[in-house]
Amino acid sequence: MHKSSLIYVAGHRGMVGSAIWRELERQGYTNLLGRSRAELDLLDRAAVDRFYAEHRPEYVFFAAAKVGGIHANDTYPASFLYDNLQIQTALIDGAYRVGVKKLLFLGSSCIYPKHAPQPIPEDALLTGPLEPTNEWYAVAKIAGIKLCQAYRKQYGCDFISAMPTNLYGPNDNYHPENSHVLPALIRRFHEAKVAAAPSVTCWGSGRALREFLHADDLARACVFLMETYSSPDIVNVGCGTDLSIHDLAHLVSRTIGYQGQILWDTTKPDGTPRKLMDSRRLFALGWKPQIAFEQGIPAAYQDFLQRALNA
Ligand SMILES: NC(=O)c1ccc[n+]([C@@H]2O[C@H](COP(=O)([O-])OP(=O)(O)OC[C@H]3O[C@@H](n4cnc5c(N)ncnc54)[C@H](OP(=O)(O)O)[C@@H]3O)[C@@H](O)[C@H]2O)c1
Repeated sequence: MHKSSLIYVAGHRGMVGSAIWRELERQGYTNLLGRSRAELDLLDRAAVDRFYAEHRPEYVFFAAAKVGGIHANDTYPASFLYDNLQIQTALIDGAYRVGVKKLLFLGSSCIYPKHAPQPIPEDALLTGPLEPTNEWYAVAKIAGIKLCQAYRKQYGCDFISAMPTNLYGPNDNYHPENSHVLPALIRRFHEAKVAAAPSVTCWGSGRALREFLHADDLARACVFLMETYSSPDIVNVGCGTDLSIHDLAHLVSRTIGYQGQILWDTTKPDGTPRKLMDSRRLFALGWKPQIAFEQGIPAAYQDFLQRALNA
């Protein structure tokens, strides 16, 4: 990738896409292309074809997707499957047709079986049943990986796929009912602090272990892979360590300055006991994360204060 290459970031206003955009700018890439949904609806195949034919991007970072939590996945299974299949078909097949030099597709850790070994290696893909609550989304993502592999095999396209772990960072979704655990905790402890609530009750025992990566670290990994990696094999992107939801809750509450008690409702489920990606393939290529929680969580709280509360 040259600094003047024409680079299209699909989903450039989302959490991941905006982080990739910032990282490309930081590294001196000057010819970036982004379209909001109002400007280009990726569900409209003809519009995507026109866009590709007009601009002919050389590189594509694929960070656009219909994304949501368990509740949304469960309520709108057809939309999660159809929209993501449609967006992927349009962007991947369209990229082949206009001769895109390289495309990076983003999957997610939910592609792996519910009972995959921990930490989860890349070759756990398609070795067992999926977690039922988000299987629609996961099946679409697996189809995206397979599309990239199939276009590489049949047409020689340099299309690669990365699987990020749980992410947090600027432009995260802090929706009260429909957000991931870390942004949800930020909102809850902030609201409890403002209301001077004596306690906050979290779901489960707090013992479940989860891994988190800052979106800016993921963005650096994406640019790194685009510059250095070419293979049909998917690549996990994680930080390599996990922490308990108990420790995460205490870290977030300390960062926010919440003084009350943290209680645990053990009648509520913990979910999978542990979810950690095996990211040794990426680490062996020479990449490692840079943003520690002590730095990332205060920045995420500032993002919440500036953006989510003003939305
Ligand atoms: N967030 C995580 O923890 C996480 C973890 C692992 C993997 N990932 C993956 O990273 C990728 C990006 O996720 P994210 O967290 O950045 O999600 P996000 O913040 O919701 O961003 C998704 C982007 O896709 C765009 N988009 C969706 N449907 C579109 C359409 N029909 N036409 C045009 N644009 C459309 C959205 O535009 P609008 O804003 O206009 O809707 C948004 O800019 C996804 O593939 C996701 O699976 C995320």
